[in-house]
Amino acid sequence: MRDPRSDAPPRRPLLVTADPQLLDDLLRLCGAAGVEPDVANDEAPARRAWAEAPLVVVGSDLVRRLVRARVPRRAGVVLVGLDLDDAGVWDLAVEVGADTVVFLPDAQAWLVDRLGEAGDGPVSGGVTVAVLGGRGGAGASTLSAALACAAAGREVTTMLVDADPLGGGIDMLLGREDATGLRWPDLAAAAGRLSAESLRAALPRVGPLSVLSCGRGESLQLPLDAVRAVLAAARRSHDLVVVDLPRHLDDVAELVLSTATSTLLVVPAEVRATAAAGRVAVGVGLLAGDVRAVVRGPAPSGLTGPLVADALGLPLAGWMDAEPDLARAQEHGRPPPTEGKGPLASLCGSLLSDLLAVRRRAA
Ligand SMILES: Nc1ncnc2c1ncn2[C@@H]1O[C@H](COP(=O)(O)OP(=O)(O)OP(=O)(O)O)[C@@H](O)[C@H]1O
Ligand SMILES: [Mg+2]
Repeated sequence: MRDPRSDAPPRRPLLVTADPQLLDDLLRLCGAAGVEPDVANDEAPARRAWAEAPLVVVGSDLVRRLVRARVPRRAGVVLVGLDLDDAGVWDLAVEVGADTVVFLPDAQAWLVDRLGEAGDGPVSGGVTVAVLGGRGGAGASTLSAALACAAAGREVTTMLVDADPLGGGIDMLLGREDATGLRWPDLAAAAGRLSAESLRAALPRVGPLSVLSCGRGESLQLPLDAVRAVLAAARRSHDLVVVDLPRHLDDVAELVLSTATSTLLVVPAEVRATAAAGRVAVGVGLLAGDVRAVVRGPAPSGLTGPLVADALGLPLAGWMDAEPDLARAQEHGRPPPTEGKGPLASLCGSLLSDLLAVRRRAA
């Protein structure tokens, strides 16, 4: 998210090409990303703008000249190949110090995202927290909803994203299935760059919380491109994005886990649940960086939070006693309690302090 207090001019990505067709394509992608680029059609102007630009997109037509002009090494250089059969492009990418080689039109959506990020300036570090259960009915959706409500109640700009199409709709868990606004099926065609503010304005609100819920229609899968675009926009317009994931690690879950700041694995304090969660933890650990266990009572055989977390090889993020009367409250459409001294409210308070500390450290 661009800092609204910043009066710095918008940053302009640099396009380096003399190929009219490629330039046309790149200008169209800049238009889609809502950014104004600088254009250099030979090595001299490219060299002048090279170091300052937030992103440099080089056409393979000019890359040899840039190598000869000894442009300095820098991060954020993308080489766009013009000919899929030209194997030499990979050597040239190494010589010019490009991070990535892409071809159009395949890389259009990806490039629109990169151009948009470059134009937005430094991202303020919206935190994404993925939540999933170690076994069915572990309490992942309840914790996602409670965490998001608790954050929104503390004036943290928060979006709750339902990524479990078989979950019945997280709006229902909040008692707001009647709330007007977009749901996943309405966003199925979204790809590339979405306007962060328009997304936020179009979503249902539960108090200060933005909610993107699955519908209750026939769609059993979320479209990956739409999820990628929505999450990028969500991060730009919210300080915290909480994603409720299914246990089955499909493409969408993999994408979320690999981009989440932290992942919470909710595990009932039971022997079989711990065994099941061990399997889930292995899959999650391959994708996610910071994975922590949340252990939920009661513990029929006396298992403790540290014991369960140890068995999973994960740090313990918190323990929650069973929330009295929760199932009945949910049946009546009442959102999880996030204020007072109840187990869920207390857990959410301490989780938020930890999870948002990442952002404060980055700021
Ligand atoms: N902290 C809690 N205390 C007491 N009961 C809870 C708690 N969290 C969840 N439950 C109960 O456990 C059941 C499952 O909760 P929830 O739907 O949140 O789990 P889930 O892990 O998302 O399940 P699923 O596998 O269906 O996605 C519900 O009946 C809910 O009321
Ligand atoms: Mg669930």
